[in-house]
Amino acid sequence: MKKIFITRKIPDAGIMALRQAGHEVSVIQKDGVLTKEELITALQQDTYDAVLCLLTDTIDGEVFDAVPTAKIFANYAVGFDNIVLADAQSRGVTITNTPGVLAQSVAEFTLSLMCASLKRIPEADRFTRAGKYTGWSPELLLGTEFYGKTLGILGTGRIGSLVAAMAVHGFGMRVLYYDVARNESLEQDTGAVYVATPDELYPLADVVSVHVPLLPSTRHLIGTPQFQAMKKTAHLINTSRGAVLDEQALLVALQNGDIAGAALDVYEHEPHITAGLEKLENVILAPHIASATHEARDAMSKLAAENILTFFEGETPPNKIQ
Ligand code: DGY
Repeated sequence: MKKIFITRKIPDAGIMALRQAGHEVSVIQKDGVLTKEELITALQQDTYDAVLCLLTDTIDGEVFDAVPTAKIFANYAVGFDNIVLADAQSRGVTITNTPGVLAQSVAEFTLSLMCASLKRIPEADRFTRAGKYTGWSPELLLGTEFYGKTLGILGTGRIGSLVAAMAVHGFGMRVLYYDVARNESLEQDTGAVYVATPDELYPLADVVSVHVPLLPSTRHLIGTPQFQAMKKTAHLINTSRGAVLDEQALLVALQNGDIAGAALDVYEHEPHITAGLEKLENVILAPHIASATHEARDAMSKLAAENILTFFEGETPPNKIQ
């Protein structure tokens, strides 16, 4: 029997799988993000063999050292920018994530944000609730059609590729994409056209959707020069990681009309949101819920558990990052 520590309540499926395999699972009682001190104190209470952690936990050398018996940290997320991989590597700790199982949900949510932004749905809802609707009007809250428009996708992994397919096959959009490598199957499936640098994409795209992981090379990938290079009619959608955008520069771009609108699910300094964004009509602010479906969150729970169970069996976990 092994001991597994989970840093916050997650859907039961994975917890049950771990318990059914005969392991002891401790789930932290606080329903909120643990401070670093709380996390370290909790980990020091026992000799855990594995930790199932969340994207809201900062996992670095101090945390690994608080529980030296745990040689696997399974992140309940596809993104793993919350984990200092070098610290894990130097201590021989295996890190896993939960890719794939949330792609459908995140892609659907991305398209939902695109619909909401281009059709001005939250703005229309606020307008109607405020009692401002006095009857049909020819130019009330005019939005934009998707058909024939160009969607610029940054990052065509599982999520970006699904977004491309939905946009092309569902809405009749054209896709331009940038990634570190060409994605020939995506090109065959959707007719997507590759650009060799992200900067080639900005002047041509009607919608820019961000699907790159947060890495040193992608931090602030989009800032003032990129916003100024975009069409004034463009909309920006971000369901990846907030810090890929310079959020202050986005605020200024939206205020100045450098772009028409934005829809964000993620923020540079979560849960803090750059002051001023909340005052703008042309930005949609969601609370990091792109993967928040029963299907995705259950599957993430099961996959995180599977990574741990496979590790305990002495095999390579299916989603080993390092
Ligand atoms: C992830 O898995 O990285 C997502 O951001 C969770 O919603």
